[in-house]
Amino acid sequence: MKILVTGGAGYLGSVLADELLDAGHTVTVVDRCFFGAESLDPAVARGLRLVRDDVRWLDGRALEGQEAVVDLAALSNDPAGALDPWKTLEINYLGRARIARLAREAGVRRYVVSSSCSLYGFQEELLNERSPTKPLTVYARANGLIESDTLPLASPTYSVTALRFATLYGPSRRMRFDLAVNGMVLGATRTGKIPVARDGRQWRPFLHVRDAARGIRSVLEAPVDRVNGQVFNVGSDEQNFQVEPLAAAVAAAMEKRPALEWYGDPDARSYRVSFQKISETIGYRPAHSVAEAVREIEGGIAEGRLTATEKTKTVDWYRHLLSDPTAQQEVALRGVVL
Ligand SMILES: NC(=O)c1ccc[n+]([C@@H]2O[C@H](COP(=O)([O-])OP(=O)(O)OC[C@H]3O[C@@H](n4cnc5c(N)ncnc54)[C@H](O)[C@@H]3O)[C@@H](O)[C@H]2O)c1
Repeated sequence: MKILVTGGAGYLGSVLADELLDAGHTVTVVDRCFFGAESLDPAVARGLRLVRDDVRWLDGRALEGQEAVVDLAALSNDPAGALDPWKTLEINYLGRARIARLAREAGVRRYVVSSSCSLYGFQEELLNERSPTKPLTVYARANGLIESDTLPLASPTYSVTALRFATLYGPSRRMRFDLAVNGMVLGATRTGKIPVARDGRQWRPFLHVRDAARGIRSVLEAPVDRVNGQVFNVGSDEQNFQVEPLAAAVAAAMEKRPALEWYGDPDARSYRVSFQKISETIGYRPAHSVAEAVREIEGGIAEGRLTATEKTKTVDWYRHLLSDPTAQQEVALRGVVL
């Protein structure tokens, strides 16, 4: 397939690029490259085409000839979304709603949009795709809006699927140390202690970033009638963790056993999610574990392949881009800043 991925230079997108190229697909990435484009260097060397542009004003002709679009572009977590709620809605919701329509007009057959299990907010029971959503932040609300805006576009000639991802972990060339497991490993290697968000009892589902990429590929390659107009939670029933036991699992997988160190105010989000639907509908099951990722990240840090910089904490980097005129110029496209 010819597949266009927005946000494809990001943490998940750059892993997805490898996954799709390995499977023989032809890949174009549209990304504003807020974190740089180096994450795609090996994929570009393998034939990936990178279009440095913005989903808010991309020319629709860029979508002509594509067979599928994966729409990942976003300000990608709660704190980054809170920096400027209007920009978050403009990119995560309106920008992607625009791409979904341009893709349909260009004759693209499949559209897959990323959403998040954080839509479930705070709920006690095991949640599935029919459970009520309770978005607590502008980032989560934008995910709810993009789902309800794009799913009604589904038709026999235009397949639309929304994927609610668990919280991801694992190495990527655009590394994110602001994700729970990745941040725990970094903290442990720096200080000998694992930072654990209070009060540690909150539930979250987790998923290896390579499994997330394989989940997207599985949906792109699935029979249309199984995925068209559907929402799927993407994750693993076995990887719903409370944060304290997660930290204990991370500690157990590390070479030197770190201690736990508590930080922050009690987390307002807690959700435990069922991933039965995607498993039963298209046979998707994650293959990687937290322990495996801990060893990958620990090794990557030790060997200098993974380094913590201002860019690896998403909110810090967006705050820097928004506040520093020189940084603004570096990411300006056609004179337009962030
Ligand atoms: N990482 C997770 O744990 C997780 C969990 C659930 C859902 N998601 C979703 O998956 C998607 C990818 O997340 P990620 O972790 O790779 O984040 P990321 O921040 O690493 O990647 C997002 C990419 O989008 C690009 N981008 C942002 N605004 C853009 C715009 N206006 N036009 C073009 N490109 C733009 C950025 O430059 C970046 O490369 C997001 O939609 C995110 O909400 C991620």
